[in-house]
Amino acid sequence: MEHLLQTRRQFASDNNAGICPEAFAALAEANQGHALGYGEDPWTEKAANLIRELFETDCEVFFVFNGTAANSLVLASLCQSYHSILCHEAAHIETAECGAPEFFSNGSKVLLVPGENGKVDPAAIEGMVKRRTDIHYPKPRVLSLTQTTEMGTLYSQDELKALTQAARELGLRVHMDGARFANAVAALEVSPKELTWKAGVDALCFGGTKNGMPVGDAVVFFNRELAREFDYRCKQAGQLASKMRFLSAPWVGLLRDGAWLRHAAHANEMASLLEAGLRSAGVEIAFPRQTNAVFARMPDETVARLRKCGWQFYTNVSQGDCRLMCSWDTTETDVNDFLRDLGSI
Ligand SMILES: Cc1ncc(COP(=O)(O)O)c(C=O)c1O
Repeated sequence: MEHLLQTRRQFASDNNAGICPEAFAALAEANQGHALGYGEDPWTEKAANLIRELFETDCEVFFVFNGTAANSLVLASLCQSYHSILCHEAAHIETAECGAPEFFSNGSKVLLVPGENGKVDPAAIEGMVKRRTDIHYPKPRVLSLTQTTEMGTLYSQDELKALTQAARELGLRVHMDGARFANAVAALEVSPKELTWKAGVDALCFGGTKNGMPVGDAVVFFNRELAREFDYRCKQAGQLASKMRFLSAPWVGLLRDGAWLRHAAHANEMASLLEAGLRSAGVEIAFPRQTNAVFARMPDETVARLRKCGWQFYTNVSQGDCRLMCSWDTTETDVNDFLRDLGSI
């Protein structure tokens, strides 16, 4: 039983955190009486409308259980099986989705492009698209960008525009993996529309889980034409929740009074404190710390001793660097406790 009660907050992942109070309250509110299933309920309508308001456009919105499904099903919608998808070599769709994008698109190939700090190098897009134009090679169709990136870095509005323009000129559609889109909006202080449809993004996978939801991500099609029959795709893939109100109500909780942005800004702020503490302890930081992730370069011995002190974090995201991820519920005390243990080592 003891392990069930383990409650210490950690730096392993923002999806290790619990449900934020706003999402939890909305879940409880939704848990009254009966409501129609499969998205026909008022909570789902409200959540979709709040997302439309947030992005200031009449987008198509769907709710699915997780980010892998959101990414894979969107990419499958944007591609035929003989197409290919360009993404950064560290992209989650390549490194952490068990081939789901290829599986759900019936074989569309993922092509990897390099770039510093987890960001796609615009010059590499053209190189990759033009490298092969013969019938024997899968035709490039989509550019997939992750915002914030797997390294916690950001594409500025101008960088996004340059990338999407390059993509358009090459006949590519643009997908954004926004598992941590909220952290990007909070850090860049730019409106959601400026970082998506106004910057040339066709479809966004808007992450909820890492922002304090119990479960679920939203799929947002700015190009409504691309959403055609997406509801069937979700159903076939087992992603149409029968009790949909419990996927959508937490979105209402997060969005109706701006909690989504407050929580993301808080997580970013905790990472900034952690970064400052690490730097003053002489620890090298591997990538520019721009959002809620800090990548720290520490000797194996130090890592082992931190683990002995009970700290959990990933070392498999970027060549042995320690990924320290802050969440909506990370506190200054958590940061100071970690730094104190590091200091004692
Ligand atoms: C960049 C990125 N995309 C997507 C996801 C969503 O993955 P999941 O299917 O675990 O919700 C994650 C989760 O770690 C992620 O970091």
